[in-house]
Amino acid sequence: MNTNKKARKLTAPEFIRRKASGEKLSMLTCYDFWSAQILNDSPVDCLLVGDSLSMVMHGHDSTVYADVELMALHVKAVSRGAPNKFIIGDMPFLAARKGLAPTMDAVGELMQAGANCVKLEGELGQLDLIQHIVESGVPVMGHLGLTPQSVEAFGGHKVQGKSEAAAKAIIESAKRLEDAGAFAVVLECVPAELGKAVTAQLSIPTIGIGAGADVDGQVLVLQDMLGMTPNFKPKFLRHYANGHQTVGDAVANFHSDVQAGTFPNEAESYA
Ligand code: KIV
Repeated sequence: MNTNKKARKLTAPEFIRRKASGEKLSMLTCYDFWSAQILNDSPVDCLLVGDSLSMVMHGHDSTVYADVELMALHVKAVSRGAPNKFIIGDMPFLAARKGLAPTMDAVGELMQAGANCVKLEGELGQLDLIQHIVESGVPVMGHLGLTPQSVEAFGGHKVQGKSEAAAKAIIESAKRLEDAGAFAVVLECVPAELGKAVTAQLSIPTIGIGAGADVDGQVLVLQDMLGMTPNFKPKFLRHYANGHQTVGDAVANFHSDVQAGTFPNEAESYA
């Protein structure tokens, strides 16, 4: 049953109004047409076509394998499946680090594929670019903390901002992102106290993943929260379904019906 009471698509300025009103934002990753159709019929606020698709959909061990062409392909599929949802297109590895013209080409490709904004990891060395993208009419979502494209520099997928200095640096980065015109910031894998502190100091919303409860919204990878990979269970993740088991059971039932000759039955066959 379609229980979606919020069919109207959110807009970037509304993210900021939502923070002011205290209504939390929900965001899920989405990479393909069929799950986009399901999420389009759900009340979730917005969909992130994240570069995590490199891992979740393509089996790589990090996000650095996604490129603009791949991201645009997935954004197109999601935008066809979820016309009522605000779609965030993730700028992939190094896409914003090759100078202004290639960055703007990448932004253009994601927007023309159907994104409503772009998300960029990090802030150092990109503030002018971010400002230029914003001034070009494209809303920008920031992403701080554990920015997975820098996994090699971090030495693994580790919680960030644990020391006082590192926490201060993330707070300062977040403020600079707001000043540059970002309309929201993802905070990934930081101590809950830091999530709270950043949230208190910004007038744009923070959307946390492993950043505690005192942020303005939460994002999870769809397949993770559905329990599709039950052995992947970082501390911040909650399983809302046992997807691996459910899909596995359905496939096993199909297989045994085929073997037993009970599928298809008469009603499932043409006269
Ligand atoms: O790519 C992604 O899925 C992300 C989220 C983890 C925030 O950036």
